[in-house]
Amino acid sequence: MEKLSKISKLLNKIYYNIFVENFNGKLEYNFPSDYYRWDLIKYLINKYNYIDYLEIGCDQDQLFSKIDIQNKVGVDPVSGGNLRKTSDEFFKENNKKFDLVFIDGLHTYEQVKKDIINSLDCLKEDGVVLVHDCMPDCMSKQAVPRYRMTWNGDVWKAIVDLRHNDDLNIYTCKIDQGIGIIKKGKNTSILRVDKKIKDLKFKDYYENYNKYLRVININEFKKMFK
Ligand SMILES: C[S@@+](CC[C@H](N)C(=O)[O-])C[C@H]1O[C@@H](n2cnc3c(N)ncnc32)[C@H](O)[C@@H]1O
Repeated sequence: MEKLSKISKLLNKIYYNIFVENFNGKLEYNFPSDYYRWDLIKYLINKYNYIDYLEIGCDQDQLFSKIDIQNKVGVDPVSGGNLRKTSDEFFKENNKKFDLVFIDGLHTYEQVKKDIINSLDCLKEDGVVLVHDCMPDCMSKQAVPRYRMTWNGDVWKAIVDLRHNDDLNIYTCKIDQGIGIIKKGKNTSILRVDKKIKDLKFKDYYENYNKYLRVININEFKKMFK
């Protein structure tokens, strides 16, 4: 986990609140307390007999160590996984294909969008890309630059952006900080947002997140992936 000094946190907070946004709305998602990212991943692995798993951003292997699969690759420049690299370095050299990719590295819009596009390039035909941290509940948890420990970043903007594509079908499952689910194929609900994605604010998200992310619950997810 990236270390931020107290002074950088304070400066980032002041900068964000003065120059970017100052909005106090808070969302209550009531994420289930008995279904987490590893449960969803295990469900997909068992359902489709997946054998090749890639995780971008592994930290202390809280998730990576729980994944029981034939081949797993975990990429992190700092800790965990089994490859000490950034995702960009990894994708530049990689020629393997994966059934399932879990993206949980640097939580900024631009980096996550790049990680998703690179993941889709090495995804097998019926594979799935999952993206962690899509549903921040307040402005400070999604602020970039980061100024607090618990941080989802503006990952949600990558989902909003890619939901404009007609050849990607995307949902967000309301569990464990919000998990984006991306499959190649016809987009059955193309999103149109008039503002520049980079300029969207948390207030926009707060007012529109169901539409922006195409939020589904775990039962709806299981019906779609049955
Ligand atoms: C939130 S943690 C990952 C948690 C883990 N996936 C889990 O489910 O518990 C984010 C990790 O991303 C790593 N990271 C940061 N920048 C990265 C990058 N450019 N490429 C890959 N990993 C990165 C950090 O070192 C950190 O360990």
